[in-house]
Amino acid sequence: MAQLSHNRRAVPTVRDAIAKAARRLARARLHFGHGTDNARDDAAALVWHVLDLPVPPRARDYARRVSASAQREIDAMVTRRIRERVPVAYLTRRTWFAGLAFHVDERVLIPRSPIAELIERRFAPWVDARRVGRILDLGTGSGCIAIACARAFPRATVDASDISAEALEVASMNVRRHRLGRRVRPVMSDHFAALAGRAYDIIVSNPPYVGAEELAALPPEYWHEPRGALASGKDGLDSVRTILREAGRHLRPRGLLVVEVGNSEALVRRRFPRVPFTWLEFERGGGGVFLLTAEQVRDVR
Ligand SMILES: C[S@@+](CC[C@H](N)C(=O)[O-])C[C@H]1O[C@@H](n2cnc3c(N)ncnc32)[C@H](O)[C@@H]1O
Repeated sequence: MAQLSHNRRAVPTVRDAIAKAARRLARARLHFGHGTDNARDDAAALVWHVLDLPVPPRARDYARRVSASAQREIDAMVTRRIRERVPVAYLTRRTWFAGLAFHVDERVLIPRSPIAELIERRFAPWVDARRVGRILDLGTGSGCIAIACARAFPRATVDASDISAEALEVASMNVRRHRLGRRVRPVMSDHFAALAGRAYDIIVSNPPYVGAEELAALPPEYWHEPRGALASGKDGLDSVRTILREAGRHLRPRGLLVVEVGNSEALVRRRFPRVPFTWLEFERGGGGVFLLTAEQVRDVR
């Protein structure tokens, strides 16, 4: 009897497995920031994935036993995370954005834009949600922004554009999974090139905006992401310049342009001193997202 209870105690629980993985990840001095921002959340995502536990987590899941083979699988994934510096979302092939699950792999950037919060608020107070009929997500990657917008605006149709055929394969898969094939249209387009004559109530974009110097200094986790999702010319603003120049022709009269430029915010302010950007603030953190009305975009020189 004493032996049996000893053995029972020896079987690790989900809580133990997370703590063990988190200790290894924390010691390895990794970079966090691809959907999670600390070792414990990375560890929990790996354990949850291997054990195929339900999301959102329930308190009782943490007390479940972890078999020896599951523990070996978790250990192997932690080793890949450390040795190859693969972000967890590429190991689990799943992440969340605006409360929705998305398939991700190395064909697309791992969703992490603060724009999620704006979409969840249905772009309040900037738009009258009842008037939103057409939305463009320029540079859609996994399709996360386009799909979250379609969910937030159930009567709207959304063009999900990208220059990358591989990204559009992933976006299309996510559109199917979310059963939004009737309202979200993946479009291959270099910026607005394939969108001639189309106008939108909202153009939202998280384009590439990393300059060459910053790109070279990024932690190894970023090397797993598509280069075309990050790099945009020497100063990182090639894509932003094109969007500012051309968006005016594709916005309806009361339309809105929302663009993430991340750390390049200071440079954008310097390069476009006369553009009256509104820089958005987010309760859950993050920044570097500007907003312009259709009128303001048309005045951009
Ligand atoms: C920073 S990622 C954003 C992906 C996704 N919207 C997100 O927020 O996770 C930028 C995306 O823009 C796409 N892209 C880069 N250059 C482009 C261009 N000239 N025209 C359209 N899309 C482009 C990339 O392929 C990539 O999928």
